[in-house]
Amino acid sequence: MSYEIFARKYRPWKFEEVVGQLSVVRTIQNAIASNRIAQAYLFSGVRGTGKTTVARILAKALNCANGPTPHPCPDKDHPCQFCKSIHEGSAIDVLEIDGASNRLVDDIDALREMVKYKPAYTRTKVLIIDEVHMLSPHAFNALLKTLEEPPPNTVFIFATTEFNKVPATIVSRCQHFEFRKISHKDIINHLMEITKKEGITITPAGLALIAEAADGSMRDAQSLLDQAVAFSGENIGDEDLKTILGTVGQDVLTRFSSAVLDEKPGEVFALVESVVAAGYDLRFVFGKLIEHFRALLLVRSVERPEDLLAVSSEGLEALRAEAAKASPEDLLRYLLALQQAEPGLKYSVLPRIYLEAFLVKLCHFRKIVPLRELIKDVESLKETPQRASAGPSGPAPKATPPAGSASRPAPAPGPQSGPQALSSKPAAPPKPPTPGSKDVFARVLEKLAVDRAPLAALLGQYSSVMVRDNELEVFFGSGRGFFVTSVQEKDVRAVERAASEVLGRETKVRFAEENASDGGPIRPGRELESAMKDPAVQFFMNTFKAQVLSADPVPTSREAAPKGRGPTEKDK
Ligand SMILES: Nc1ncnc2c1ncn2[C@@H]1O[C@H](COP(=O)(O)OP(=O)(O)OP(=O)(O)O)[C@@H](O)[C@H]1O
Ligand SMILES: [Mg+2]
Ligand SMILES: [Zn+2]
Repeated sequence: MSYEIFARKYRPWKFEEVVGQLSVVRTIQNAIASNRIAQAYLFSGVRGTGKTTVARILAKALNCANGPTPHPCPDKDHPCQFCKSIHEGSAIDVLEIDGASNRLVDDIDALREMVKYKPAYTRTKVLIIDEVHMLSPHAFNALLKTLEEPPPNTVFIFATTEFNKVPATIVSRCQHFEFRKISHKDIINHLMEITKKEGITITPAGLALIAEAADGSMRDAQSLLDQAVAFSGENIGDEDLKTILGTVGQDVLTRFSSAVLDEKPGEVFALVESVVAAGYDLRFVFGKLIEHFRALLLVRSVERPEDLLAVSSEGLEALRAEAAKASPEDLLRYLLALQQAEPGLKYSVLPRIYLEAFLVKLCHFRKIVPLRELIKDVESLKETPQRASAGPSGPAPKATPPAGSASRPAPAPGPQSGPQALSSKPAAPPKPPTPGSKDVFARVLEKLAVDRAPLAALLGQYSSVMVRDNELEVFFGSGRGFFVTSVQEKDVRAVERAASEVLGRETKVRFAEENASDGGPIRPGRELESAMKDPAVQFFMNTFKAQVLSADPVPTSREAAPKGRGPTEKDK
């Protein structure tokens, strides 16, 4: 028999089984009893606290054959067909959409299409959009329009782990519920019930260790219990738990950072294998890696790191030795990259491969132009009036970067690094820009550096810029799409503010990666966009709930081996 993970097996069936969210549950039940159902709900709160679970129970309450009722089919073993299919997530009229993987325009159009039709089998169509804060601005607008004229018999439930990122225009149209972290006591009691039912022995101290590590997330607590069972069988000893939960040893973390800092991608695979074999949760390991790189940055940046780090003196020495391998700027970039990649790991269908690919990429990270060189470069370009490329994206462009002279193969036949080389709209002849686009961008970076130094450092990795009317386009070298995906929405706004100030007019800013295969720029997500339209891809997404992590251009016949951008770049 296949093993069903605890989080799924013990997903609460009814409102009364939801732990630690009493006020949310009660308010919703009262609303149903008095027939005051809102058209849109927003559930916010940390991961694994019951948002999706409550959304499904609410959908059952609305659609139960005996409903609408605050107590839909209370007997799990004899439910009506609606309650059954909704609980299993297979009801046609209850759609769950992952906002993180549906950031493209087409998907939201498809969503509006779905909303147009009446529910096929049930009374009320329920649309659950998870991680709604990840929707693109365009998708938000589409959603807003839908919410302004809400279709009848449809209830929207939005869930988010980052409430502050949901636009106020959406929030104001929803009834908002905040899901709290679940207390240690509630987690321990709940795990106790599960272990009793499963015939697992574990000490109260062991349960407390799990609750501690789960940090308010019931799902995390349950999956830690899964891991403990996988590791120890049905008798879980405290020592085993410490192995699983106890911080990943400093030595293990140091081996990871050494692989990266010594640029030894070959070591990544064995290291990942070792933590998988030891039964660690990869997300947990990743979190520890982030802390480790923070510690490295810290010992490299402050005089008395021991005041800020809880480590032994030997531990501190080890950190110092490790941190000495890289400049503080580099360490900052590693740290930013790790933080940026963390949510991707959560959603990855193949977390192990995601982790491996990401770490391999980090190993190659430092080959990218060091900051100091870039600043020099930007300064030298201040003397150049025309906009041009910041040099090929190879290492350390010096004073004269003629196209093709870098170690990277020259782009396909085309203009030297002249303006057209980057023009994505062939028809737009470059106006003589005043002042030079590079100049403009250097000033934008200067402005940003005042209070957004890390962002300025990140953008300092650009390879060329182009100013057109009210638009500033910033390109990163081919294969460096990572930088494009690293820029967050609020960053874009900050850059736009700075650019508008520098140019003295409202300016939009866009980021794109240059395309290695044709020398022209590609927009982030262009491949992805067309891949998502592909019927075969859609079939996989629908049938297997698959997710597209990245898409690479199909090489033309004259091109040699495909250069993948790697699976770590999630669509933004
Ligand atoms: N409040 C809770 N009471 C009981 N079990 C819970 C609760 N919250 C979460 N769980 C357990 O965790 C699993 C996942 O919960 P759920 O999908 O509802 O979390 P979520 O808040 O939607 O998380 P995410 O933000 O990651 O989507 C459930 O199947 C259930 O087993
Ligand atoms: Mg959820
Ligand atoms: Zn029912």
